[in-house]
Amino acid sequence: MKNILVIGSTGQIGSELTLELRKRYGVEHVVAGYIPSAMPQGELQAGPSAIADVTDRQSIEVVARQFKIDTIYNLAALLSVVAESRPAMAWKVGIDGLWNVLEVAREYGCAVFTPSSIGSFGMETPHVKTPQDTIQRPRTMYGVTKVTTELLSDYYFVKYGVDTRAVRFPGIISNVTHPGGGTTDYAVEIFYAAVKGEKFVCPIKAGTYMDMMYMPDAMHAAISLMEADPKRLVHRNAFNIASMSFDPEGVYQAIKKHLPEFEMTYEVDPLKQAIADSWPDCLDDSCARREWDWMPRYDLESMTVDMLEKLRVKLQKKVM
Ligand code: SER
Repeated sequence: MKNILVIGSTGQIGSELTLELRKRYGVEHVVAGYIPSAMPQGELQAGPSAIADVTDRQSIEVVARQFKIDTIYNLAALLSVVAESRPAMAWKVGIDGLWNVLEVAREYGCAVFTPSSIGSFGMETPHVKTPQDTIQRPRTMYGVTKVTTELLSDYYFVKYGVDTRAVRFPGIISNVTHPGGGTTDYAVEIFYAAVKGEKFVCPIKAGTYMDMMYMPDAMHAAISLMEADPKRLVHRNAFNIASMSFDPEGVYQAIKKHLPEFEMTYEVDPLKQAIADSWPDCLDDSCARREWDWMPRYDLESMTVDMLEKLRVKLQKKVM
């Protein structure tokens, strides 16, 4: 990875991944791709940036040529709940957009990382220790676009030799940019409520387990997979990765250990609950561990400590 384009650099993952990549590969070598309605702010402005709209192939091509891009992180997507209310847009961004990115990658010889998700699984998938290769029959538009992402990415690898690689991200928890429109968002919002001293109303039922991951581990996965020796990769699109699985009670108790007065009640959102019920409880990530030495660093306890500490600082600085 010498010259990298991050598409969706102002989003939930992109806003942190762009800065992390710049730390490792040099500020000048990482272009923050954005759409005009989500301009780079703050630290992101310290390096190169350019309009990179997946729905406009030409905009991606211009950046690839101008910055001699060899690696693209394609993070443009609508999360699961939003995708249900805007299915056509979810397809347009997720799949027509991916097609554009892959075509540019084919022409300019770029490697491409396009995340899949735990949302690529469905009701018929084994929910516990979900295998790497198993039934994937999602009934959400988010899931449909993610399975298609996996297939199309593999197709471009097999047919054209485009170096496509991906992971299936769990719910990602971070203290920087809010997710917005996902089923796992509650696991981020609960921390903000706790630190602000507010009561949290949980939209997901107790006992609903889903895989979650702290942002530093998610970034570490995205970077180390793209750095991995291709000769060792049996799989490509997309690897199961896992670090922790919890239900609302689990994260509530983990926070309560540090903030005993914190309170949570439930007001279940039927759409979110139905989506969550169709997703696995916990993935088996042994292929990722074997093929590119995937190893998470955070568990629920260490993530909780770090989240609370970082959010307290944000609250003091009045930046949340
Ligand atoms: N965080 C995503 C969502 O909830 C799942 O990958 O939509």
